[in-house]
Amino acid sequence: MKKIGILTSGGDAPGMNSVIRAVVRSALKVNFQVLGIKRGYEGLLSGDISELKSTDVLGISDHGGTMLRSARSEEMRTPDGLKRAYEMSKIFGIDALIVIGGDGSITGAKALSELGLKVIGIPATIDLDLECSEYTIGFDTAVNTGVEAIMKISDTTSSHERVSIVEVMGRNCGNIALWCAIACGVDDILIPEVTDVGENEIIHQILQNRAKGKKQNIIIVAEGIGGSQELAEKIQITTGIVSRATILGHIQRGGFPSALDRFHGANMGSFAISLLTENNYNKVVVVKNGKYDHIDITEALNQKRCFDVELYKRVRQLSI
Ligand code: F6P
Repeated sequence: MKKIGILTSGGDAPGMNSVIRAVVRSALKVNFQVLGIKRGYEGLLSGDISELKSTDVLGISDHGGTMLRSARSEEMRTPDGLKRAYEMSKIFGIDALIVIGGDGSITGAKALSELGLKVIGIPATIDLDLECSEYTIGFDTAVNTGVEAIMKISDTTSSHERVSIVEVMGRNCGNIALWCAIACGVDDILIPEVTDVGENEIIHQILQNRAKGKKQNIIIVAEGIGGSQELAEKIQITTGIVSRATILGHIQRGGFPSALDRFHGANMGSFAISLLTENNYNKVVVVKNGKYDHIDITEALNQKRCFDVELYKRVRQLSI
């Protein structure tokens, strides 16, 4: 193992820079050369690749986003694109590729491994939706951003005795919504994993809480459910209570990475290099039972995501 390629792919996540820094510094310590690939698989396909030295990663952990940039590559999903990505890795003499990203990005790495490239995946997505790992880089920062925004919205909601719908990110996964809901103590939540609760149940919950004396209501909606504006209008028409919707959107993907994201980022990046020094590859670096570990890439991707129904129940149990 001499030359390591590194890329960040898919939706960016705060803390990705800590992973990059740790990979580069740990790799240089064991005399690996590191090639930084720009814009995820797009940069691999176009050959937008350059060597990363220790000073190139100086101070990057302080910043959100990814210094390597990121992209969602449609071409990598095609057999031709995949073959070309593999060939480009050979042209650049890449012995092993480290892919930092979510489910789709690690799936791309697995496909490359099947063509013969040695790969390591590092889970990084604000969604926390990879069953194989208890943690994915970016989740903590995204939840903290959500909590801060909800607290601000809560101030004006209570001043005006209104209902606020707050839409957080998560197309297929309600984890950001769940954690924000429990951390902030909101009235109710709509997430993709729960299909038998809809606007009627939400309105019922609002009216019930008002009857108990509550003067403001916050409802969190996951992006995958959507329709926040329409929900606010429906609530206002049905209950007569002024209702507003706020969609937090991409602000949850950016910003100063939290200590937890930097901490896990640094450790998972170093762990990836220690695997490669042991000639251990085609693995995903994971957090399991609070410890850093690794799992076969195919097995990692085959694990079905389990929904923590207890967390969901807790939101409703703690709502007044
Ligand atoms: O994967 C993270 C994520 O932010 C999801 O929560 C969201 O559904 C998606 O990415 C949005 O992707 P894009 O920025 O490409 O629209």
